[in-house]
Amino acid sequence: MFSANVYTERRKRLKKNIGSGILLFLGNEESPINYPDNSYVFRQDSSFLYFWGLDLPELAAIIDIDEDRDILFGRELTIDEKVWIGPRPALNEYGLKSGVDDVVAFDRLQAELLQANQKGRDIHFLPQYRPQNLIRIQQLLGIDAALANASASEAFIKAVVAQRSIKTREEIEQIEAALDITCEMQILAMNMSKPGMYEKEVAGAMAGLSYSRGGAGLAFPIIFTVRGHIQHNPHHGNLMQAGDMIVNDCGAESAMHYASDITRTFPVSGKFDQRQREIYTIVFEAQKKAIEAIQPGVEYREVHLLACRHLTAGLKALGLVKDDVDAAVAAGAHALFMPGGLGHMLGLDVHDMEGLGEDYVGYTDEIQRSEQFGTCNLRLARVLESGFVITVEPGLYFIPELIDQWKAEKRFEEFINYNKVETYKNFGGIRIEDDVLVLEDGCRVLGNPIPKAIEDVEAFSS
Ligand code: GLY
Repeated sequence: MFSANVYTERRKRLKKNIGSGILLFLGNEESPINYPDNSYVFRQDSSFLYFWGLDLPELAAIIDIDEDRDILFGRELTIDEKVWIGPRPALNEYGLKSGVDDVVAFDRLQAELLQANQKGRDIHFLPQYRPQNLIRIQQLLGIDAALANASASEAFIKAVVAQRSIKTREEIEQIEAALDITCEMQILAMNMSKPGMYEKEVAGAMAGLSYSRGGAGLAFPIIFTVRGHIQHNPHHGNLMQAGDMIVNDCGAESAMHYASDITRTFPVSGKFDQRQREIYTIVFEAQKKAIEAIQPGVEYREVHLLACRHLTAGLKALGLVKDDVDAAVAAGAHALFMPGGLGHMLGLDVHDMEGLGEDYVGYTDEIQRSEQFGTCNLRLARVLESGFVITVEPGLYFIPELIDQWKAEKRFEEFINYNKVETYKNFGGIRIEDDVLVLEDGCRVLGNPIPKAIEDVEAFSS
């Protein structure tokens, strides 16, 4: 945890921003895999971590803004739990770590909220993504679980997003600690992968490494695949063969659960072939141009479109795209090859704060989500501010099903040379991703360098 003062200050700012009412925070509970005592690894809710820092299940908290009270609700372990999972400090000790001296038994929460309700006070809560907490909202506030998120407080969401979007120095240190581990994972994968091995052998070794370096494990399930044209391919069962490329999209969490998210693409047998080098170079250059464009005041959607124009110009030089590049991108033809967005916010969540609603994080009243295929998948479009941490992850993907569909529809025939594209249908995909901090005068790629230029990737992969 950070010092108690950090959490007290964060809550103080939140109170000031919202002004009045009661703010309800629900921590996460253990989540069973297949029977009650067999749980997934516990992961605390990220907004709970941000404002209270406490990384244990079955906690809730309220901030009563009008009475200037911060109250933590929890329970002591039973003797059975002490026998089976071991003892832990008393709840008030956790309260002190979080800067709270008002620590109350969990079963008082309902009474507190009932009283507030009866007085007609505003009770603000955040959208919930776990069924247990939707049920908790129903129990505590009498709002049908299925409808609860529609009643979440927009003022609360916006205030939390505003605060969590700007990372402090201590948070950047945490993200860079996570990146140190991810750097090791990427290098391990490049060194270890050989023709004749299965993806799961390498993915398993990376997962093991993520748990063994003082972090909190993986920030998200590893994407490690020879079928890199599938953007979020969760499968690790393929045999790696000479000539294949691996897309390795992975990230560790720091001990305090800050995420990292890095993608490298490398040749299984240590050398890219000519076609792979050509496509890799296009993606690499597009990423460089995108990073160069990042600074406060710039709309991330413009950076996304800039990257798409570079990708499309590269494909035009290879004969896969024809006619005017700007017109092709404006029409959305590039989305055949880059159907996703350039990146997203990164912080305590790998897609930071998206549990609060993707549009609250990535869009504003002025910058609304596009309806065009491809561009509509951009998670972050808004104007960048100093202190944002974002991913920059252009890619080129040859998705046989999408190529077949568009070709059959004759979609964008004026821009796409389908005869040439047909010859790339077995190519796979290439993505390159880094985590970038927006600074007052530009940006900084976070973490130690991870092999990215073709010669470096080949040197580590051979
Ligand atoms: N890198 C995994 C993701 O963005 O979901």
